[in-house]
Amino acid sequence: MQVATHHQRILSGMRPTGALHLGHYHGVIKNWIRLQDTYQCFLFVADWHALTTHYANPGIIHTSTIEMVIDWLATGIDPEKATIFVQSQVPEHAELHLLLSMMTPLGWLERVPTYKDQQEKLKEKDLATYGFLGYPLLQSADILIYKAGLVPVGEDQVAHVELTREVAKRFNHLYGKEDKFEEKLAISMRKMGKKQVKHYRNYKRAYQEKGDQEALLAAKTLIDSQQNISIEDKERLLGALEGGGKVILPEPQALLTPAAKMPGLDGQKMSKSYHNTISLREDPQQLSDKLRKMPTDPARVRLHDPGNPKNCPVWQLHTIYSDEETKNWVQAGCQSAKIGCLDCKTPIIDAVLTELAPIQERAKAITEQKVQETLQKGTQMAREEAEKTLQEVRQVMGLTPLF
Ligand code: TRP
Ligand code: SF4
Repeated sequence: MQVATHHQRILSGMRPTGALHLGHYHGVIKNWIRLQDTYQCFLFVADWHALTTHYANPGIIHTSTIEMVIDWLATGIDPEKATIFVQSQVPEHAELHLLLSMMTPLGWLERVPTYKDQQEKLKEKDLATYGFLGYPLLQSADILIYKAGLVPVGEDQVAHVELTREVAKRFNHLYGKEDKFEEKLAISMRKMGKKQVKHYRNYKRAYQEKGDQEALLAAKTLIDSQQNISIEDKERLLGALEGGGKVILPEPQALLTPAAKMPGLDGQKMSKSYHNTISLREDPQQLSDKLRKMPTDPARVRLHDPGNPKNCPVWQLHTIYSDEETKNWVQAGCQSAKIGCLDCKTPIIDAVLTELAPIQERAKAITEQKVQETLQKGTQMAREEAEKTLQEVRQVMGLTPLF
């Protein structure tokens, strides 16, 4: 695709944590599945990111990657729609990371909130490493190498997208300067056609004089859609919107995942480290057992003790899985002690089983070979796109090919 910026392009990554659980599904994957229909999506396994914290026990990365991709495919991430790949198979990410590291102030990385937080939290690991400090910049390289416009992430990752924006801004400031920018801009504009130029000018004015964000977006979309002008022209037209030089690395935006906080079996957030998960490929019998054993409102010691759903992790699951009628039945039945906790859990067990049945069915048919083929195809596409950006970056950073 011959466009300089991809405001409609999505990039997101996930660390290879092995088989996925309901928390991943409701928190991330369902969102990705929705997005792949509307946007061009690049979705990857962030195995280098896993190494920043798991460098001492890398043994699990390989199988975790395969298991995770099986679950991606089984849930409906579609390799015909999205480009699916593994980070370490696209070494271009590492080259961009290195080049960006030359111009990224150390203080920016030290100030990323997750840096100190995670070091505190994961005390048992020595995270006073170079790789761990640089990890958000590696993430910036992941995003910028595809010139992605939107990055779906959870709350905890927003600061990383913010850093990416700062890095892109600094990069463009340092390397986007051009001699005779105005003259070259005029030439680029002429290639657009009269009507388009008029729109472009109007949008630019609305943005620069009134701060109209929609006009800015409209202008970017207009530039994106131009078929007959070069990447350089587009970068110039884009750069002129915000003043200054060319926009070589466009600033991405975080697309905050609508927070579906999936409660785990104990009411805390579902997470592998809390041992409170239901995996997508959990055996149905085991799944039912786990849910049946879930703790409930401690006030309900005996069947005729009334309870309050507010104090019960099972209720949190009802808010995700049940319709109004069922929820009303739970509220009334719990507070009047008319239903037992096992009755209350039955609709949840049914709903989860129904949700997972087709996923499990599809997963059975996904072989390791299918995963390999998918990744191979995705990797090739990703590398082609990544290489385009790198060629530009190398050039503006003085690394012109010598032969
Ligand atoms: N850092 C993310 C995480 O730990 C994973 C990730 C790596 C990512 N690179 C990314 C997410 C780029 C979005 C975009 O969950
Ligand atoms: Fe929880 Fe339902 Fe039991 Fe009430 S009836 S305590 S909501 S499981």
